[in-house]
Amino acid sequence: MAESGTGGNQVGLKLHAAQRALGLVESGMTVGLGSGSTATLWIKLLGEQVRNHGLKICAIASSEDSERLGRSYGIPFVTFEECQSLDLTVDGADEIAPKLALIKGGGGKLLREKIVASASKRFVIVADESKVVEKLGRFPLPVEVIRMACPLVSGSLRELGFTPTIRVNPDGSNYITDEGNFILDCSGLLIEDPYALARELDSIVGVVEHGLFLDMANLAVIAGKHEVVERTS
Ligand code: 5RP
Repeated sequence: MAESGTGGNQVGLKLHAAQRALGLVESGMTVGLGSGSTATLWIKLLGEQVRNHGLKICAIASSEDSERLGRSYGIPFVTFEECQSLDLTVDGADEIAPKLALIKGGGGKLLREKIVASASKRFVIVADESKVVEKLGRFPLPVEVIRMACPLVSGSLRELGFTPTIRVNPDGSNYITDEGNFILDCSGLLIEDPYALARELDSIVGVVEHGLFLDMANLAVIAGKHEVVERTS
């Protein structure tokens, strides 16, 4: 699956992955739009196809930013009231481990991203090669929490071995998700058993969702300096 001349810089690599994934879209599809810089490149490419080349799709976005961007290209949006099953979702990732186990949520959109991915027949990750790891956990795992429960959830996460930190905006205020929650970025633990950890996190009252995406992605399109490779789960 080589593609010549991917170029060395990270934005160039992300663009190559997004371009490859564009080939998966067909007219008539309902498409999930991910979030983050790689997904943004993909949305722009998709938007150009809709605006300039007559591609007929409708979409559901995983963030307000992605929906705004899609609308600026004239991509029509639907809701889960109108459509409960998406043909394809394309999104980025923060880490990609064997079996396409992922950490997502670096951009803070993990809850809606997981909802959209869970409703998709195909969930495809686009990324540059820096995202590939043998074990998850060097990237701090984002955990979305109900605000009032934040101190309690922090305690539970510490007991699991994490160092949780409340995510803040550049101005020092707490980052608030699209659903009005806080994010705890959990560092300090290499994840030996993501499934066991996901079960632990799911059982903590006050955790809304976490950034472990397991058994969800069908394909990862990963751009390196010399080629774009496709990995399946
Ligand atoms: C947002 C995400 C992003 O997809 C993830 O952070 C990757 O972002 P980027 O493509 O900018 O590296 O999960 O919540």
